[in-house]
Amino acid sequence: MTTPVRVGQVGLGSWGRNLLRNFDEAARLAWICDTNEEALRSQASRYPTARATAALEDLLADEQLDALVVATPVATHYELARLALEAGKHVFVEKPPAMRAAEMEELLELARERERVLMPGHLLLYHPGVRKLKELIDSGELGEVLCVYGNRQNLGVIRSHENALWSLGVHDLSVILWLIDEEPVEAVAHGRDFLQPGVEDVVFCFLRFPSGKVAHMHLSWLDPHKMRKMTVVGKEKMAVFDDMELERKITVYDKAPWEPAETYGEWRTRTGDIFSPKIPNDEPLRLEVQHFLDLVRSGPGDHAEAVYGLHVVRALERLTESLRAGAPA
Ligand SMILES: NC(=O)c1ccc[n+]([C@@H]2O[C@H](COP(=O)([O-])OP(=O)(O)OC[C@H]3O[C@@H](n4cnc5c(N)ncnc54)[C@H](O)[C@@H]3O)[C@@H](O)[C@H]2O)c1
Repeated sequence: MTTPVRVGQVGLGSWGRNLLRNFDEAARLAWICDTNEEALRSQASRYPTARATAALEDLLADEQLDALVVATPVATHYELARLALEAGKHVFVEKPPAMRAAEMEELLELARERERVLMPGHLLLYHPGVRKLKELIDSGELGEVLCVYGNRQNLGVIRSHENALWSLGVHDLSVILWLIDEEPVEAVAHGRDFLQPGVEDVVFCFLRFPSGKVAHMHLSWLDPHKMRKMTVVGKEKMAVFDDMELERKITVYDKAPWEPAETYGEWRTRTGDIFSPKIPNDEPLRLEVQHFLDLVRSGPGDHAEAVYGLHVVRALERLTESLRAGAPA
């Protein structure tokens, strides 16, 4: 029997509680930490075998502790992840792991030096529906991918420390970069701050990749009609991942522009079946936590997760520059 990984978690807020539940099930929850007394007290009563503290130093000083989970607000991620890596801990850090590419590069360097796992929490990459999209692309079933676009709209949650790009866009961006497997050469973002000055509630993004593929994201917390969709248009077929659907998470349209017709300048379109492959019902967070624990046991390898996290932060940073300047970055 393998000894369970000993985990400590800092940040016990609304999302942090989901992480706590999963780490408690899959590992040994040794420490919980929050500077908010009420949050600490309520989780201490739920997880009585974990030691509770408001001081992160207690966790960092525990030589028996293997890994730290960071689920605090975004602005604190880089600093807490850095302290944990310096103390020799493996780190799972909620998305985005840093707010600047230079900071993420520093974290990656530290993880390499110390041979520790650094895994940003890009949850959607563990969603069986998104995995199916990737499989459809990589198997060539959709043909050459032409464009990908994400819709992430809802009424709320309205944040004041992050705009819609950093709060919502990080999810779709992580999926788009993973599906296309390239970093963008052009990143343009436009948005508007209707509710709070300087905090964009709605953001439209355009990305162009070296291969010529393009992507788009519509991000908003002002839309009463909730959408959680990712569409991939290929030369042969189109696939749509719709997380609002209970059963038909993925729909594949066997339809495409086919070949130029005899008449010059005209294109015929081909229409075929529309079908929905079966998608397993596994909880993405459980799969994500399991992947982190597997890495802690096996070692960080080529640090693919952290490198990938750097690509996401880099693209976010460029989109933010464009948003601020009102011009392409
Ligand atoms: N992967 C996902 O789908 C997903 C979903 C929601 C939120 N998140 C991410 O999870 C993180 C936490 O989100 P949340 O909604 O739980 O936030 P929250 O505000 O509800 O909770 C954050 C907690 O961290 C504590 N905290 C802040 N600074 C601290 C410090 N220095 N030391 C100890 N405790 C500290 C606060 O007291 C609070 O209890 C955010 O980074 C967010 O982006 C991810």
